[in-house]
Amino acid sequence: MLAKVNSFALSGLDGYKVDIEIDINAGLPKVEIIGLPDTAIKESSERVTSAVKNSGYHFPIKRVIVNLAPADTKKEGSLFDLPIAIGVLAASEQLFSRSYKDYVILGELSLDGKLRPIDGLIAILISGMQQGYKKFIIPRDNAAEASFIKGIEAYCVGTLKEACELLEEGGNVAPVPYREFESSPAEAVFDVDFADVKGQVAAKRALEIAVAGGHNVLMIGPPGAGKSMLAKCVVSIMPDLTFDEAIEVTKIHSVAGILDEKKGIVTSRPFRTPHHSTTVPALVGGGTKSKPGEVSLANHGVLFLDEVPEYSRHALETLRQPLEDGFVTVSRVQQTVRYPSHFMLIGSMNPCPCGNFGSKKHICTCTPQSIRKYINKISGPLLDRIDIQIELDAVEFNELRSRAEEEKSADIKARVMKARAVQSARYDSLPIFTNAEMNNRLIKEYCEIPAEAESLMESAFKKLSLSARASFRILRVARTIADLEGKDKIETAHVAEAIQYRSLDRKYWN
Ligand SMILES: Nc1ncnc2c1ncn2[C@@H]1O[C@H](COP(=O)(O)OP(=O)(O)OP(=O)(O)O)[C@@H](O)[C@H]1O
Ligand SMILES: [Mg+2]
Ligand SMILES: [Zn+2]
Repeated sequence: MLAKVNSFALSGLDGYKVDIEIDINAGLPKVEIIGLPDTAIKESSERVTSAVKNSGYHFPIKRVIVNLAPADTKKEGSLFDLPIAIGVLAASEQLFSRSYKDYVILGELSLDGKLRPIDGLIAILISGMQQGYKKFIIPRDNAAEASFIKGIEAYCVGTLKEACELLEEGGNVAPVPYREFESSPAEAVFDVDFADVKGQVAAKRALEIAVAGGHNVLMIGPPGAGKSMLAKCVVSIMPDLTFDEAIEVTKIHSVAGILDEKKGIVTSRPFRTPHHSTTVPALVGGGTKSKPGEVSLANHGVLFLDEVPEYSRHALETLRQPLEDGFVTVSRVQQTVRYPSHFMLIGSMNPCPCGNFGSKKHICTCTPQSIRKYINKISGPLLDRIDIQIELDAVEFNELRSRAEEEKSADIKARVMKARAVQSARYDSLPIFTNAEMNNRLIKEYCEIPAEAESLMESAFKKLSLSARASFRILRVARTIADLEGKDKIETAHVAEAIQYRSLDRKYWN
């Protein structure tokens, strides 16, 4: 006889309904899966056969045809094991209840009949709910993820046998209880706090401005200056994740298979540090499974590129789309998927190949040509998107040993939040949230500066031969500095400070 089981598959972060039809008829004993299966689904027949036998049922010694519909999409993964097994048991009349028709069924089986968690479950549940499905049977290890979604009933089972019992007897099993989301729960501790960083007043100030206005940053300084340490502190002064942001981050991490299954949701902003040898697919997404890349794993958080000039030109160029659009498109043979990639970029680099250019303590042995070549590696698309450039040097020994109290991240964050609130109010009716997102038209509207600042800009332009683009960046940053001070109008001092954050233009660029 024929059985039809409801399941779901993923395309990017969106789930779509898959009907699994199982037909058993006379013929040579064989399992045939049709409907564009990938290798994981082909292997599914082996797992399902063993799991059925090892759960106390018998596998029909007949021709078993499994059809995955719609047939025109490329289905990936092993999440169809459980619905296929249930369908086989229903079609071979070992499962008497027809209640399986009321559920969307998902799960990978191991040979002994145990269920394994699946990647991307939260994305499937949300899509399922939006498409009107209410009851789901899922692997127990995915329970935490399911608990944050209101309006569904997710029934967790540990084995194929348990799934069958649930379907036969129903009633006794309660769905996963709903849990309220709490952003950065009290126990959340960041790896490092700005209070751990001695001195570096100017760099800390620049990072505060960067986070306040959503600006990308490049840190330039010799080895050991504390660039990596400062970058790690940045997430600790970013606003808490909202529920919607947390869900989006969780979906991406779940699809990528890096979600902490016990927690089930991401509660703090991601900090991703792809190594400079990282491949382009690993950076922007793609590969055989069209998984999200680092730029998407960093969504709503920080992407830290340590030693930017070490990355390949090609890798840096592929960052253009995510930096400009806040999303990436990943193309495959059968489909194109899109992942969000809205992150704050922090880059770090040495000032020159030897690292000592501009240092007060060490002598630089590089030629002007080699310095220019080194800096030139990060020209173009990347530098175009960086509003703030910070130069820093290592702190002195006595400063490092000083017992003076440094300001805590929590206090800096409070100021950031105030400046963010000013921006939210200003851009209330616009599709942007931060000053860094202002286009030239908005800059004209919101970044008026006094005549005195105008002449300051003019002389800076002449002296440093800045580009027109640099001027827009200076104005955006000046706007953020004014917002941090709670000033409605940009003042000359704000512009003067913003000009300081163009060190590459000043020193080496031209
Ligand atoms: N201002 C500081 N306060 C406290 N510790 C510091 C400071 N600066 C550096 N350190 C210490 O020095 C170590 C090296 O710093 P970090 O790795 O951040 O430097 P870096 O600029 O990234 O160097 P590199 O160019 O070698 O990557 C840190 O782990 C930290 O312990
Ligand atoms: Mg470092
Ligand atoms: Zn040098």
